[in-house]
Amino acid sequence: MNTQLLAACPESYALAAEILKNGGLVAFPTETVYGLGANALDPEAVLSIFAAKGRPADNPLIVHVFDRSQLDPLCNVPEKAIPLMDAFWPGPLTLLCERKPVIPSEVTAGLPTVAVRMPSHPVARKMLQACGLPIAAPSANSSGRPSPTTAAHVMEDMNGKIPLIIDGGMSDVGLESTVLDLCHGDPVILRPGGVTKEMIEQVLGCPVQVAGSVLRPLRENETALSPGMRYKHYSPKGSVTLVEGPEERVVPLLEKLYSEQSALGRKCCVLCFSEHVSRLSACCPHDIGSAVSPEEIAHRLFDVLRKLDEEGMEVVFSEVIPPEGVGLAVMNRLGRAAAFHTIQA
Ligand code: TXA
Ligand code: MG
Repeated sequence: MNTQLLAACPESYALAAEILKNGGLVAFPTETVYGLGANALDPEAVLSIFAAKGRPADNPLIVHVFDRSQLDPLCNVPEKAIPLMDAFWPGPLTLLCERKPVIPSEVTAGLPTVAVRMPSHPVARKMLQACGLPIAAPSANSSGRPSPTTAAHVMEDMNGKIPLIIDGGMSDVGLESTVLDLCHGDPVILRPGGVTKEMIEQVLGCPVQVAGSVLRPLRENETALSPGMRYKHYSPKGSVTLVEGPEERVVPLLEKLYSEQSALGRKCCVLCFSEHVSRLSACCPHDIGSAVSPEEIAHRLFDVLRKLDEEGMEVVFSEVIPPEGVGLAVMNRLGRAAAFHTIQA
């Protein structure tokens, strides 16, 4: 199949709408990461998403809508979801709702809930409006690779597999949406993202839990609240290790680890804050952004992780940030890229 890469314009929205209505797949930009969309009400179209990504069938998809009225036939919206939609939609917050029968079980992997979200990216919004359909869309990467934050990333993974990619520039947030479960008692964040725990607590006026496996591996016999947590994700081909501790100890340790690995003939690099790039100039530094801006690190992280593979990095050491605010989402993705392997400086 020939994959067209088109700039965002009225003609590409019209083409996308036609493809989606006919059961095809379209990759499109959102404010979080690029999505791989299909008509959420068409089981065949939904199955072709799993095929294009090589995604396990038991990992459910998020349904994207243009406006709230589209939700009525799809799901029952929990009461607590309303103030959150008022505060954060359109935007990077996904809410679990009780599904109605019209949603194919292929979308929800047989679960009684469906994840719904209203993206804010203007290109996503114009495409959703043009097709008038609820769109099931996971991130537009091959399963197991970092999510795409540019159209070029999508091309790397999807060229020849889908008919159309709409280019909307680099995704702003850079990490996938926050997934919040309001269906099973107290609110629980299953996957942290750009809408933070602190922001949700402020609106709900009650504490919000974070699923235990966000900052550690899933334990044997522990059921994943969100099926996606079971899978190895965001993983570059090389081995990644996190280095934690006070700045004055972390930087020298990174230098030491780098020279040990280089001496063994391994292709090695460090992921470090902008502030440390010049001090680590002998250690093949990759700038992940400023230590004081988790938002900037979120924005860049997946692009940096993809570069590691392009460069054939075998051993990678990374600095860490506190798991607060957007830092929680950053440390969830970085932690999983490292299989939570951490050294204390
Ligand atoms: O930002 C995003 O959310 C992007 C853009 C394209 O919207 N989409 C995305 O989709 O990241 P995906 O499929 O890569 O991640 C969806 C996550 C998975 O971890 C999945 O297990 C979880 O949401 N999920 C979906 N439906 C669920 C459900 N009913 N119950 C629990 N978890 C669910
Ligand atoms: Mg994904």
